[in-house]
Amino acid sequence: MLAIIGGSGITQLPNLEITRRQMVRTPHGEPSGALTFGRMKGRDVVFLARHGYGNTIPPHEVNYRANLWALHAQNVVDVVSVASVGGIRAELAPGVLAVPDQIIDYTHGRRSTFFTRTDHSVTHIDFTRPYCEALRQRLLQAARTVGETVIAQGTYAATQGPRLETAAEINRIERDGADMVGMTGMPEAALAREIGLCYAAIAVVVNHAAGRGTSTHAIRLEEITEVSQRAMTRVRNILEHLVELDGG
Ligand code: HPA
Repeated sequence: MLAIIGGSGITQLPNLEITRRQMVRTPHGEPSGALTFGRMKGRDVVFLARHGYGNTIPPHEVNYRANLWALHAQNVVDVVSVASVGGIRAELAPGVLAVPDQIIDYTHGRRSTFFTRTDHSVTHIDFTRPYCEALRQRLLQAARTVGETVIAQGTYAATQGPRLETAAEINRIERDGADMVGMTGMPEAALAREIGLCYAAIAVVVNHAAGRGTSTHAIRLEEITEVSQRAMTRVRNILEHLVELDGG
């Protein structure tokens, strides 16, 4: 089954015919909210709002471990994350959609691994390519099918938040090689890999990153909301076609 983790711009999926909601307890505590099970294009999908259904959980307080654990416990195989980002590279202007292929992690103090117990030997995961390539390709194909232009790769920088970055931080992050910046991509992607889920993200550029383009002097938070609302209709359309592709 496919799971969709919705970010701040997407706390529900109007094209999901909801069948049930279930609160799942996990050894890592409670997920951001009840899992919403439903059918999309006749296929089973489960949805979870990363920041809670009232959009109240800030990025550094999301229980990423509980979210991934809860999804894994429902026979979920694929997880698509919808994530708002600031665009660093000029091409990544507000309204642009991208499917990143790399990550740089600047977060700290988050519970970032399932492997904390000492009762088994130390476990490392390979994370050379942090996203599941097969799912990335299906997302890109779904976007092509609906005629949506999507940037097919890019490096996602995960910052701690909840504050936005300074212009100097964005300059540094760009020198490091990142193309877009968001606050929730990590540890989510790494936890998905640890637990064996195939994970990819669709990034929605909702603002120019600090110091760039229309954010040269400041980031206008109203702009983020406007751009996000318009883009999410396109994202939902892509997701609907992804579900159809997955059904073969
Ligand atoms: N920085 C970090 N996270 C974000 C941004 C940003 O500019 N826009 C949306 N999420």
